Amino acid sequence: MGRSIYCVVTAAGSGTRLGHNEPKALVNLAGKPILHHALCGLEPLGDLAGVAITAPANYLETFTQIAREAALSYPWTVLPGGSSRQKSVYEGLKGLLSFEPGNGQLPANDPTAIVLIHDAARALTPIAQFERVCQAVESGCPAVVPATELIDTVREVKGDTFTRQGLKITPAGSTPDRSRLRCVQTPQGFAGDIIFAAHDRAREESICEGEAVDDAVLVATLGHEQYFVPGSMRALKITYPLDLKLATWLAENPDRD
Ligand code: CTP
Ligand code: MG
Repeated sequence: MGRSIYCVVTAAGSGTRLGHNEPKALVNLAGKPILHHALCGLEPLGDLAGVAITAPANYLETFTQIAREAALSYPWTVLPGGSSRQKSVYEGLKGLLSFEPGNGQLPANDPTAIVLIHDAARALTPIAQFERVCQAVESGCPAVVPATELIDTVREVKGDTFTRQGLKITPAGSTPDRSRLRCVQTPQGFAGDIIFAAHDRAREESICEGEAVDDAVLVATLGHEQYFVPGSMRALKITYPLDLKLATWLAENPDRD
């Protein structure tokens, strides 16, 4: 029996920081919408039992058209996201229940199903990163997070920012050991039953008030360990205009970085 992999692609955000007058997933990246790249990036994974794509509620038709034109080999559905990323993921998880289960069991009840949660904004994530995450889940890790080492030294903020002679100044504190910190990316991967349980509980108990930074954090509230696998520079999250410029170069130079 092959692997049973599901994926929620979160694409319902507006892209405020990118500053375009259309949702971020529709913004052009090297000739195609960001969403197109994100969906095609999943293609080589194989074993995909279903992909749920969250869209801004008033763009369902446009997103559906982009998925259709991408001629994807896996089953997919487009559905409205929520007002926060966490709420969009919850809607996406519900959407996964509409697919014919790969091995006869709904992913919400299936500890052997692999559920990936991936940001469309990380449109150029290499397939090897998806594979690493899936392999770690298959090996028994309940929550898997691709992560990179920090480039810069980081330092804590010790007090409130004040203005002196027109300059914003912030008191600085201690310097955490950078070797013990990681920058987290997506796709995050989970055992099927665990991620559904984590989102259900978060919703029922208003954990993180619907604004959890990511999904592994919700799984950790159930007492499960999270594990890192290596992330990559190519999985950068397109957030600001400069990220889009960098992503454009990466998309046009798939073998160089
Ligand atoms: N996302 C979502 N639903 C939301 C908010 C975000 O599905 N209500 C998705 C985004 O589409 C994106 C991912 O979550 O793929 C990560 O969010 P982020 O990079 O912050 O995107 P935006 O929220 O769109 O950008 P911004 O915060 O600048 O408005
Ligand atoms: Mg956001």
